[in-house]
Amino acid sequence: MKKKLLVTDLPGSQYEGKRVFVRVDFNVPVNGGEITEDYRIRRTIPTIDYLTRCGARVILASHMGRPKGRRIEHLSMAPVAARLNEFLGTKIHFPGAVVGRKVENTSKRLKNGEVMLLENLRYHNEEQENDADFSKKLASLADIYVNEAFGTSHRAHASTYGMTAHFDKKLAGLMVGNEMKFLSRLIRRPKKPYVVIVGGMKIKDKIGALKNIIKKADKVLIGGGVAYTFLAACGMSVGKCSVENEMLYWARDALNTYKEKILLPVDHVMAEAAGGKKTLAVTSSEILDDMTAFDIGPKTVEKFTSHIKGEGTVFWNGPMGFFELDDFSNGTSAIARSFALATWRGAITVLGGGDSVAALKKSGVKFSEATHVSTGGGACFEFLGGSDLPGISILSDS
Ligand code: 3PG
Repeated sequence: MKKKLLVTDLPGSQYEGKRVFVRVDFNVPVNGGEITEDYRIRRTIPTIDYLTRCGARVILASHMGRPKGRRIEHLSMAPVAARLNEFLGTKIHFPGAVVGRKVENTSKRLKNGEVMLLENLRYHNEEQENDADFSKKLASLADIYVNEAFGTSHRAHASTYGMTAHFDKKLAGLMVGNEMKFLSRLIRRPKKPYVVIVGGMKIKDKIGALKNIIKKADKVLIGGGVAYTFLAACGMSVGKCSVENEMLYWARDALNTYKEKILLPVDHVMAEAAGGKKTLAVTSSEILDDMTAFDIGPKTVEKFTSHIKGEGTVFWNGPMGFFELDDFSNGTSAIARSFALATWRGAITVLGGGDSVAALKKSGVKFSEATHVSTGGGACFEFLGGSDLPGISILSDS
């Protein structure tokens, strides 16, 4: 992908008094109104600081969760506005809407150096539908467009794609520039051996990228919910673990083609339900019909960690199980510690995905113990799989 024009490539004077629409990805975990992980917010601060120092009037916009066009209170951006207040040390204007009179008036009244935050873009179905009128309304708020939402750049939505047609200048934020610079190196020449750890829930979301990543990787360690579709494809009984039936054919084919590369769990921590009494299953016959796997077992940890070494490249996307519950966090924590050790021993380590970031934190591993912590989950995966991300392709070339 061509290099994109960065916010700092324009002389600062060009921002003075201009309204700058900054698409950010503030899709952060919120519990009881409290943001539990704000890495994605912190990473955008240099771009916001730069723009406000240049005298721009900054309009921030993001989605949170998947509210499917409805106003769902716990997915409001209000807690993010409060966190930004704290980080920027200035009052954030928060009209509590995405479009309409109140938003237009707030945007018109912004003074140089002031910041406003729109409400959750996905309160409107038109956002994900990339609706032309909605795109136009968003675009009418500003003079310059900036994409600082690496994590959402694989989506061609109104705010990441449609509205950009209305701007001459479509710039990459500093964090987007940094992600592209780092991850592009990994696409071109990953230092070998290249080990990929995949977890999380859905293969369907990852399939396109996974196909390409498997070709380049030397080993692919598959844990978490996605492993059970592969195990089912091997003919193993997987109890109540969810299996993506439409992916079985592909999983079988991948296992045949890349026999030597793909490693699957050999033991599983099972329970009837999350929070229920746990038990260890080692063979297929020990996975009872009424049980679900919530973590990888100790033998799998041993097998996987023997491949996470202090050389080459290690890319990790997705937890190994339901790590949020202590009973099922061992596998993910062991992988996190081994990932950190690999960094200290000289490997290039890259972490992608909101869940993986939370898992790293819970395991007591610091972000500085990874070479690169991407703000993108699906986006990072797709980018490394070699796909062009629509939200980045449409930006002005440098
Ligand atoms: C993410 O968390 O990966 C991004 O914010 C994109 O969210 P989405 O998968 O709901 O589009």
